[in-house]
Amino acid sequence: MKRVLILGAKSDIAKAIAHRFAKTGCNIDLAARNSTLLEPLVKDLSIRYNCQAKTLEFDALDFKSHGAFYESLTEKPDIVICVFGYLGNQDNAQKDFQEAEKIINTNYTGAVSILNIIANDFEQRQQGTIAGISSVAGDRGRQSNYFYGSAKAAFTAYLSGLRNRLTKAGVHVITVKPGYVATKMTEGMELPQPLTASPEQVSEAIFQAIEKQKNAIYTLWMWQYIMLIIRSVPEFIFKKLNL
Ligand SMILES: NC(=O)c1ccc[n+]([C@@H]2O[C@H](COP(=O)([O-])OP(=O)(O)OC[C@H]3O[C@@H](n4cnc5c(N)ncnc54)[C@H](OP(=O)(O)O)[C@@H]3O)[C@@H](O)[C@H]2O)c1
Repeated sequence: MKRVLILGAKSDIAKAIAHRFAKTGCNIDLAARNSTLLEPLVKDLSIRYNCQAKTLEFDALDFKSHGAFYESLTEKPDIVICVFGYLGNQDNAQKDFQEAEKIINTNYTGAVSILNIIANDFEQRQQGTIAGISSVAGDRGRQSNYFYGSAKAAFTAYLSGLRNRLTKAGVHVITVKPGYVATKMTEGMELPQPLTASPEQVSEAIFQAIEKQKNAIYTLWMWQYIMLIIRSVPEFIFKKLNL
């Protein structure tokens, strides 16, 4: 029976991931801040799927705690899905470095801090799967969210390098790039419905990508083509667009 560790388990996408993997008989470790709030989910997973799930206290920004956090896991995971993230506020980040730092540290430094530890363990054990949720926002910087976008771009590059390093150890690394997803993060935003995924669609895509040993995926699939177009716009035109 596989053990799945979900980092940032209070996210809407993470909850859908927990259901998707519990359905197939996996044990689920739900790591989050204020993780006791996830007890109802633990009960739900147990009743619905007879799943053994538990909550773990985890703060992506508390880098120094990450070693002890992973050490404390008596049973190490087979699959790790790094879901936590922080969109933040672009305008505030332009004026106040503290906001910029929080965006960078949550989406990039925190992920690197915990995944370094997990990657070393998986490399030694010569097994495991690491999936990281990045974003299409990392494919090209735009004026409306380049703090978040640049942190996700760095995360995408990190995952690419990690995949390159760990492939010879038999460790599988997947980069997940969602477009719009209807979650707490995008609450109140007017999102174009045909381009917006549900958390369930994202979790299904991640499940399938792990099964099929994919390297990188976009959710929804059309974002791959949208981003291809966006990346190919020449910079002298792109810099004048109101994006
Ligand atoms: N929604 C979208 O349109 C979209 C698009 C592309 C990529 N993504 C990415 O998808 C992932 C999941 O986001 P979501 O859409 O499901 O949004 P969400 O429901 O707002 O989830 C974000 C989660 O990250 C957690 N988090 C933030 N800082 C943390 C920290 N220091 N330590 C531990 N957990 C922390 C939050 O925990 P708390 O509940 O404790 O605040 C929250 O549960 C994120 O990486 C996001 O960047 C989302």
